[in-house]
Amino acid sequence: ERQEARPYNRQRLLVVANRLPVSAVRRGEDSWSLEISAGGLVSALLGVKEFEARWIGWAGVNVPDEVGQKALSKALAEKRCIPVFLDEEIVHQYYNGYCNNILWPLFHYLGLPQEDRLATTRSFQSQFAAYKKANQMFADVVNEHYEEGDVVWCHDYHLMFLPKCLKEYNSKMKVGWFLHTPFPSSEIHRTLPSRSELLRSVLAADLVGFHTYDYARHFVSACTRILGLEGTPEGVEDQGRLTRVAAFPIGIDSERFIRALEVPDVIQHMKELKERFAGRKVMLGVDRLDMIKGIPQKILAFEKFLEENASWRDKVVLLQIAVPTRTDVPEYQKLTSQVHEIVGRINGRFGTLTAVPIHHLDRSLDFYALCALYAVTDVALVTSLRDGMNLVSYEFVACQEAKKGVLILSEFAGAAQSLGAGAILVNPWNITEVAASIGQALNMTAEEREKRHRHNFHHVKTHTAQEWAETFVSELNDTVIEAQLRISK
Ligand code: G6P
Repeated sequence: ERQEARPYNRQRLLVVANRLPVSAVRRGEDSWSLEISAGGLVSALLGVKEFEARWIGWAGVNVPDEVGQKALSKALAEKRCIPVFLDEEIVHQYYNGYCNNILWPLFHYLGLPQEDRLATTRSFQSQFAAYKKANQMFADVVNEHYEEGDVVWCHDYHLMFLPKCLKEYNSKMKVGWFLHTPFPSSEIHRTLPSRSELLRSVLAADLVGFHTYDYARHFVSACTRILGLEGTPEGVEDQGRLTRVAAFPIGIDSERFIRALEVPDVIQHMKELKERFAGRKVMLGVDRLDMIKGIPQKILAFEKFLEENASWRDKVVLLQIAVPTRTDVPEYQKLTSQVHEIVGRINGRFGTLTAVPIHHLDRSLDFYALCALYAVTDVALVTSLRDGMNLVSYEFVACQEAKKGVLILSEFAGAAQSLGAGAILVNPWNITEVAASIGQALNMTAEEREKRHRHNFHHVKTHTAQEWAETFVSELNDTVIEAQLRISK
């Protein structure tokens, strides 16, 4: 059979995600400039020798004309990317609406938006219709590029409807789906009007993966309680067909961060930062400006610490990098002004003519600047209210071999399950507790810091993104083979 004939080391992997790992800027009618975003996922998948990865997703720009679409597709093909073109209305209803205003907050335990809960079932329904339509558009593109034997790996909450669409095209397609956010308790998931339809579409996949065992367990419970299906140690069974469900905790490409610290520009930048903040301990937060990240709560905890520890006021600084995100969604706009207001108030209260306690940036930093910052930090504050994994905590640890700084980490981030033993774990809602943990971190002995760092550094070095991707894909291949054997018995 052709499927078997393709040597394993040349297996193609189609990675389907809402967003392609590129930023595209239009330079003319038929010309585009592309920049590949060298994030963790990209380097993870490029690093896996056994398969040849291609990306399918939205390029993040509106391209209404055919000339532009053709030119962009051509430019993207060189980067092994295949675009899905979504018009503005679909983006509004599917991406801003259903994905980021409904699923994202719900999966992070922030509930459904009030307006939708009350009257506007029409708006909910039209957003869900757009979500399904968008997922169907992704499926059309996958189907067009699919070759027998390919592995199709769907990513995240944007594409929960995709496994079903793909299996309708071709029931033999090997389909995996991975969620990068938490999957909430079934009691939360059951409030979603489209709860059953989404679960059923995900179950069409052969393998369903999550970052932690708890998220996998919540998903299986949702399927048993809401759909009445049978949960087994392997996954979920429906009329003899098994959907395998398991945990695959992601990691980072730690060597990339470790190597960056040897780059002369980075060393120079670290030197400048050390001089700039000489005599003060550096605390760092790096987050997308998202309500799940708990930025206001973190800043309020820092204020409480300053309030209660007058002797530290001129000896510590908090650098908060808040990367703007999803700026068309009103909730995100509100959060930006809320954070600005709190930062302004605290700097007004504790600042002097020459120094302020909080430096807040509304932008991202380039990779090298970020590495330098991680390396000079004494205490990192990752206080997400909920977070699928949170790789900032991993990146910080990877850059701390020299300094052995302290990680304060929310117990509601997936990373708490892997870095919990080395970090100071906190409940981010408890501002008193977070303020106390800041004191504990700043006063920690070098011996204790070393011990905690060793644990975390070892974990970050040995659980890489590449290993994560390899494990998921080989498990998907095995799952499909096992299912075929079961049927042929
Ligand atoms: C989270 C999601 C990703 C998403 C990223 C950035 O990490 O799990 O799927 O790509 O946020 O958000 P954006 O909406 O800009 O793609």
